[in-house]
Amino acid sequence: MCGIVGYLGEKDTKEILLSGLKELEYRGYDSAGIAVLQDGNFNSYKAVGKLVNLEEKTKDFVTDKFAAGIGHTRWATHGKPTELNAHPHVGQSSYVVHNGIIENYATLKKELTSEGVKFLSQTDTEVIVHQFEKNLKKSDSAFEAFTKTVSELEGAYAILLVTKSEDKTIFFAKNGSPMLVGINEENEKYFASSDTPLIGRCSDVNYFEDGDYGFVTKNQLAIFNKKNAKVEPKFTKLSTNKLSAQKDGHRFFMEKEIYEQSTVISDTLLGRLRDSQVLFDEIESSLFDGINEIKLCACGTSYHSALSASYMFERYAKIKTSVEVASEFRYREPVMTQDTLFVVISQSGETADTLETLKMAKRNNLKTLVICNVDNSSMVRLADASILTRAGVEKGVASTKAFATQVTVFWMLSLYVAKLKNSLADAEIARQIKLLRQVPASVKVTDDRHERIKRLSKRYLHGHGFFFIGRDVFFPLALEGALKLKEISYLHAEGYPSGEMKHGPIALADPELFTIALLPQHLLYEKAKSNVEELSARDSTICVISPIVFDKADDFIQTGNHEDYMLEFFEMMVVVQLLSLEISVRLGNDVDMPRNLAKSVTVE
Ligand code: M6R
Repeated sequence: MCGIVGYLGEKDTKEILLSGLKELEYRGYDSAGIAVLQDGNFNSYKAVGKLVNLEEKTKDFVTDKFAAGIGHTRWATHGKPTELNAHPHVGQSSYVVHNGIIENYATLKKELTSEGVKFLSQTDTEVIVHQFEKNLKKSDSAFEAFTKTVSELEGAYAILLVTKSEDKTIFFAKNGSPMLVGINEENEKYFASSDTPLIGRCSDVNYFEDGDYGFVTKNQLAIFNKKNAKVEPKFTKLSTNKLSAQKDGHRFFMEKEIYEQSTVISDTLLGRLRDSQVLFDEIESSLFDGINEIKLCACGTSYHSALSASYMFERYAKIKTSVEVASEFRYREPVMTQDTLFVVISQSGETADTLETLKMAKRNNLKTLVICNVDNSSMVRLADASILTRAGVEKGVASTKAFATQVTVFWMLSLYVAKLKNSLADAEIARQIKLLRQVPASVKVTDDRHERIKRLSKRYLHGHGFFFIGRDVFFPLALEGALKLKEISYLHAEGYPSGEMKHGPIALADPELFTIALLPQHLLYEKAKSNVEELSARDSTICVISPIVFDKADDFIQTGNHEDYMLEFFEMMVVVQLLSLEISVRLGNDVDMPRNLAKSVTVE
């Protein structure tokens, strides 16, 4: 996830771009850059790290006349966070900024390279500007070249491009990544990835639809849709509340992040799925040579995603897998053998306990892999290989979208290993890839669903405890549901394997014990149902989450009829996240910054 801004007008372009990027810094901050075209000349600046570094670099740069400017704050997906990989990317006489992923960049790059084009960066984005300039040579106008370029791109993008060949114009295209344009009475044009940079500068905005592309000049805003038909902008009035705009109108960042899961899962899948094959450009398949065991190590929510991974690795890839809580692992003098791939999982990449286990694995000469949300974090720098989860910046202390993208990566990785090890037939891998493509839809929050959970939450504000129960991969989900509730409601909650309740915890059952039961239809339904009946017979208050109506429950949240248990997993994940959120809201707690917790735990 990155942030882009653009400005065409007569005011201080540098100040407008930098302050716009400041508003978008939450979308990514490993590098930033701007390019400004005034009087037919370009000035471009880039800096690694936070925006202050770019501010410092541009402090003597003056923009005091009509200009076309574009800017970008980066969340690395292809290539390390270096100045060369920072946007805007340059061709011979044009600059481009881009948010998203160009899936066919490798093919385009190969072609361009064979034609003599020199690439400066490792990014997918750079192909856009070179492809545009190649097309420009054969076109009657820059717009014709831009239109052709857009038609050649596959993947997700929000793009702004400026070129000397039409120096009073900004070209734009949007598909799958957010972008809007704002106008005002002074004939200025503003672009951004979200509302916030535009608040106070524009009165009316047009949110682009997927497939839209076009250009702006001082007097024109021309939009074309995916069928190449010219369309009228649909202007709406811009909100004036900045914080609410940052939260996309949601009450809390956690709520926004729950709603965002569909998008960030799509981002995480982008470019990694073929018909019967999962691709991870960032790792070599030789990483798995000589590996007989996978050991996963993490803390908190990341530990829960690792637990869910252990079911998938053993079931699909048929590889022995074990999972460790990092703070335990580091002191228990574990036996580490070199046929083990050591995998750490972390949203931040900085959690001290997890980082320490990675160091232990390195000291023992194990091959290491990190699944992480932050490029260039300590773990990414240290591990032999890394896979990024592309959840974007997660602000809520209670992790939601990071978990969703971690499980998505693990599902893909288990199929990747299954292919290497020949443990699943191609047809089965192809079937699962089709399922993976359905995940973004399965996590969409509908108004009805959210309203139902909001109403139901009022019955769960007291009691002497909660048990979230599930079997198989739904057990880690139960653990995660309980952790979410604990973190933001301060109510006692445990996650438990459904079948284990009868071995002790069932003694607690009474009407003041709340059981949240995960009952998927495609995985051990009858077994899990019997476990819930045992609790119901002992008068525990029960909330069942299932696609199949369950008449012995006090409350029931009906999930959709999916064709596979993993899709049920993702839908139920959203239900438990929303339930915790609504209970916390009713209790009047600080949802985004719960007491005693920190987002990144860099101490022991
Ligand atoms: O950044 P990490 O994934 O390494 O963080 C691990 C835990 O500290 C983290 O998941 C924590 O449990 C969250 N607050 C969970 O919501």
